[in-house]
Amino acid sequence: MSEKNYQIRLKSRPKGWVSPENFDYVEAEIPDIGDGQVLIRNLYLSVDPYMRGRMNDAPSYIPPFQIGEVLEAGVVGQVIKSNNPKFAQGDHVVGMLGWELYSRSDGSGLMKVDPSLAPLSYYLGILGMPGMTAYVGLTAIGEAKKGETLFVSAASGAVGSVVGQLGRIFGCHVVGCAGADDKVAYLTQELGFDRAFNYKTAGQVHKKLAELCPAGIDVNFENVGGEILEAALWNMSNFGRIVLCGLIAHYNDEKMAPGPRGMGLIIQRRLKVQGFIVFDHMDLGMEYIQKAAGWLKDGQLKYHESVAEGLDQAPQAFIGMLKGENFGKQVVKLD
Ligand SMILES: NC(=O)c1ccc[n+]([C@@H]2O[C@H](COP(=O)([O-])OP(=O)(O)OC[C@H]3O[C@@H](n4cnc5c(N)ncnc54)[C@H](OP(=O)(O)O)[C@@H]3O)[C@@H](O)[C@H]2O)c1
Repeated sequence: MSEKNYQIRLKSRPKGWVSPENFDYVEAEIPDIGDGQVLIRNLYLSVDPYMRGRMNDAPSYIPPFQIGEVLEAGVVGQVIKSNNPKFAQGDHVVGMLGWELYSRSDGSGLMKVDPSLAPLSYYLGILGMPGMTAYVGLTAIGEAKKGETLFVSAASGAVGSVVGQLGRIFGCHVVGCAGADDKVAYLTQELGFDRAFNYKTAGQVHKKLAELCPAGIDVNFENVGGEILEAALWNMSNFGRIVLCGLIAHYNDEKMAPGPRGMGLIIQRRLKVQGFIVFDHMDLGMEYIQKAAGWLKDGQLKYHESVAEGLDQAPQAFIGMLKGENFGKQVVKLD
């Protein structure tokens, strides 16, 4: 275990695609702790699409990263010193901490996790924020019901892979798309999706969706935007729901892209389109964690992750995830 602290700080704001030059890898002091604080040795760090938005100097639901400051992420770690009665030395915890080996916390937003229930990295994925996102989006926003057709984009990723599996548990006909043939095979052969396709090689996506969803799409769980959203829109059933979870196809755009054509279909087909942020639904998120632990145990939920080794690999893991190089949830194991 490292005797020193290392951190990744924001060096500059990207214009268009994020690049390794936007990050600084620096040596730093292991922080001292005061009253009520804990020192955490970070073990796994999550890289997530929303972080690209935080690299811009623009107001959003979460403040932007600041130049020269340590980046923030979902992190699982172990408490190594504690002046906080809620946490003991040795406890494993998850929370929003730094892209660094050692973090100081006053305990706010920090949650204990049980390493005997699941591998620690799962608390950043299927038993963490992405899993909760899938559940909240599918239940509270999409109101998916038995017998309905569910379509999910970025379907092999951290959120999408859980959306599809939950859809199967809820009795939906589940169709997904992903950007590589091995990912597509994983969806149908491992995760139980009814149908899946590679959006990069399928030709016109709206035609592919018409073929795979002949009764129309009742719930579109949108992770991508752009052409895929437009193709889904054209295939929606009357009274369908579009769950706007994310628009990753646009996160590195330098100029705002034109909206999808076919907006009139929202009226004609009486669609509901709703965006959401998982953190507004934490009660439901906690309900999901209880259920998901059981589903994982009895094999109804399966999980795949890509693990990058070492803090210095975090920027590349993040950029790779935005480009689709991850297979399942992308995490970074800290040495
Ligand atoms: N609303 C919320 O509270 C909330 C919370 C968490 C995540 N999200 C959103 O959920 C979405 C998925 O996030 P995640 O953490 O699960 O990431 P992820 O799916 O594990 O990784 C991102 C994936 O997006 C796909 N992708 C990238 N660019 C694309 C493009 N131009 N067209 C189609 N697919 C593209 C890539 O897969 P392929 O190989 O398949 O292209 C890539 O692997 C993101 O949009 C994210 O912002 C929202």
